[in-house]
Amino acid sequence: MIDKIKSGILGFDALVNTGFVKNSITAVYGSPGAGKSIFCTEFLREGLKEGEKVFYVSLEQDLDSFLRGAEALGFTEFRENINGNFVFARMTGHDFKNFLSVELPRVLAARKGKHSRIVIDPLTPFLWEIKDAALQRNILGDAFVMLREFGTAIVTIERYGDLSRLELSEELAIPLYLSDSVVLMSMAYNQNFYQKAVSIIKMRFSGHSSGMHPFDITEKGIQIFQDQPVF
Ligand SMILES: Nc1ncnc2c1ncn2[C@@H]1O[C@H](COP(=O)(O)OP(=O)(O)OP(=O)(O)O)[C@@H](O)[C@H]1O
Ligand SMILES: [Mg+2]
Repeated sequence: MIDKIKSGILGFDALVNTGFVKNSITAVYGSPGAGKSIFCTEFLREGLKEGEKVFYVSLEQDLDSFLRGAEALGFTEFRENINGNFVFARMTGHDFKNFLSVELPRVLAARKGKHSRIVIDPLTPFLWEIKDAALQRNILGDAFVMLREFGTAIVTIERYGDLSRLELSEELAIPLYLSDSVVLMSMAYNQNFYQKAVSIIKMRFSGHSSGMHPFDITEKGIQIFQDQPVF
């Protein structure tokens, strides 16, 4: 029996047969500004609403900027839980490497058997830190085993190149192979505008939509339209 958890993203659970697989790793792969960080924020917010412990590891922004972004969307849960269920850590790609070998095993031992939600946003600076493919695969493989024990995780991966093409970049292949699920957030260009769209590239142990679904980001967050074509 595969346990699922609600994503917290409006319209997403209908695409993936009710939600994320519990204790899995999802890579959210997307263009600049596609909505990756908001996607992760909504995923953690759902955890806070359920009284779960949630962890946001940022390799990019500090806590103030994160809270400002969350509050711009009307999400008050993060500030309310800052000394409780919401744990925020800002680190560099290099720090993150040490975090995986030293702190994560310690936190894991302390939280044995408890489910957490964790986000690493973006994972890309850590990938730059380890250029050697074999080493990257080993470190990331071990890290993902630990993260699955820890709970349900989302890592974001920044995507470069032609915004309207769907190909997966070779330098970013390892995390995409090692992840249980890959969600692509892209922009489809048509007649002078970019429409944001989400596709599920894979989801191990679960059925999922094979379509490309348009979504909007408004002042309330992401809204995915399950049954509409992109154009
Ligand atoms: N209040 C809002 N109304 C409409 N759109 C918004 C609003 N707030 C954010 N957005 C959209 O969300 C985008 C930013 O989302 P987010 O920060 O999650 O993207 P990202 O994929 O993490 O970007 P980056 O690659 O810079 O990290 C903006 O580019 C804009 O399109
Ligand atoms: Mg971001």
